[in-house]
Amino acid sequence: MLKMINAKFLKSTLEWRDSPKPPKPEIAFVGRSNVGKSSLINCLVNINNFARVSKQPGKTRTINFFSINDKFYLVDLPGYGFAKTSKKEQQNWQVALENYLLNSPNLKTLFVLIDCKVGPKANDLQMIEWLAYNNIPYKIIATKADKLSKTAQNSQVKLISEQLQLPPEEAPILFSVKNRTGRKEVINNITGILRTR
Ligand code: GTP
Ligand code: MG
Repeated sequence: MLKMINAKFLKSTLEWRDSPKPPKPEIAFVGRSNVGKSSLINCLVNINNFARVSKQPGKTRTINFFSINDKFYLVDLPGYGFAKTSKKEQQNWQVALENYLLNSPNLKTLFVLIDCKVGPKANDLQMIEWLAYNNIPYKIIATKADKLSKTAQNSQVKLISEQLQLPPEEAPILFSVKNRTGRKEVINNITGILRTR
């Protein structure tokens, strides 16, 4: 399994043109605020608070680039659906996010995180429709699996697949930072993407 042995924070920006040089494949994480994007990145690289985590939603407010093994970049994107900011600031993030997703030539895939217990909300559905419309490849990760029993996890995965009309091979990856569920699957997924795209 790919080991993320050399992980470095590179930069925070709101401008997609500022992506790090030299160009390398980028693997990005998006989702509602507080869904667990930064925690998941920390879990992948095995470093606590490498990408900053907070109990309060709205922690990640910029596009953050991390260099892994000098081979590729992980990209922590600002969370959407965070109500406690000004309309103007929300709009700025939305524009930054959309511009990054539409324009980054090195974006190889996007993981869309959805809280396993909560399921997809209107803004998740909107995001996924928008991705499909713009032909941006994505994979769903169902986060915080530890909050549900095994049975409930499976029925939620089924429900999320139905709601998002995912084909069986695109079923969400169950993830838990607490007990590291899904870590191997996400890493294998990234390895596969780096090999083929
Ligand atoms: P923004 O930066 O605000 O967009 O949030 P984020 O998506 O980066 O979420 P973050 O990683 O900061 O996590 C939000 C909260 O969820 C924190 O309190 C985490 O400890 C908690 N959390 C994240 N992943 C898990 C998980 O797998 N299980 C449980 N129980 N809690 C989690
Ligand atoms: Mg974050």
